[in-house]
Amino acid sequence: MRQFGLIGRKLGHSFSAKYFAEKFEREGLSSDCSYLLYELPEIERVEEFIASTPSLAGFNVTIPYKQQIIPYLDDLSDEARDIGAVNCVKILSDGRRVGYNTDVVGVRSSLESLLGDVAVESALILGTGGASQAVRYVLAERGIGYKIVSRDKERGDVTYDELTSEVVAASKLIVNCSPVGMYPAVEQAPVIDYGALSDGHFLFDLVYNPEITRFMEFGAAQGAHTLSGLDMLYAQAEAAWKIWNE
Ligand SMILES: NC(=O)c1ccc[n+]([C@@H]2O[C@H](COP(=O)([O-])OP(=O)(O)OC[C@H]3O[C@@H](n4cnc5c(N)ncnc54)[C@H](OP(=O)(O)O)[C@@H]3O)[C@@H](O)[C@H]2O)c1
Repeated sequence: MRQFGLIGRKLGHSFSAKYFAEKFEREGLSSDCSYLLYELPEIERVEEFIASTPSLAGFNVTIPYKQQIIPYLDDLSDEARDIGAVNCVKILSDGRRVGYNTDVVGVRSSLESLLGDVAVESALILGTGGASQAVRYVLAERGIGYKIVSRDKERGDVTYDELTSEVVAASKLIVNCSPVGMYPAVEQAPVIDYGALSDGHFLFDLVYNPEITRFMEFGAAQGAHTLSGLDMLYAQAEAAWKIWNE
């Protein structure tokens, strides 16, 4: 039996647990693999968790431990090191623990499907948390310049109040890396001038519940192309599965 799982502080209704349970069932792996949720009140408890789970082959990491897990690992992928956050850990046969960032894989594949061959020069990234770091990494990889929009002047390049319609009009890719619009606050949307959008705009919402957010609806009403965070969620889960089986 190979065991996988998710560590975080409060796990509630985890997408990953449902995703892997269904995957194992569908692919006839249920007798060999299981995926369990491990709520850890503090990251120090990760040692106890690993020691008491001898068949553990890998696990995902979520809020608030994506950075805090790093001192407990033996090695990091280049991407996880550059971004400074880990959401996937692989346990090698000799017990060494390697950290990866599969959000990057998810952002990469989502942007490929959203943008296709279209060359975008400048983007806006809304929010400055862990997901924002992964998006910055992929935009830099693709040579897309970006401005970071934050509620706090210290954290970003521009605040929502300072964001002019001209900048919104000129930024053909806008990525929502904030939780605004996420269930249950589904009526909310990031505060930008949606009237400045056109059919030349691409809006990527990392929020995946609901699948169609207000941000996407307001963009689509102006003719913009939109993508939900659901594709990214599937892509990062599959990337973790690939890493655990390599
Ligand atoms: N689809 C996927 O696979 C996937 C993967 C990872 C994350 N996500 C989603 O992406 C979102 C961000 O995740 P995260 O891990 O980066 O979260 P996080 O670390 O908590 O960061 C979220 C950022 O959003 C901004 N923010 C928070 N509350 C806000 C509010 N009320 N109004 C405006 N801005 C606000 C903050 O930036 P400022 O304080 O600088 O404004 C904060 O740094 C979440 O909804 C998460 O579910 C999706």
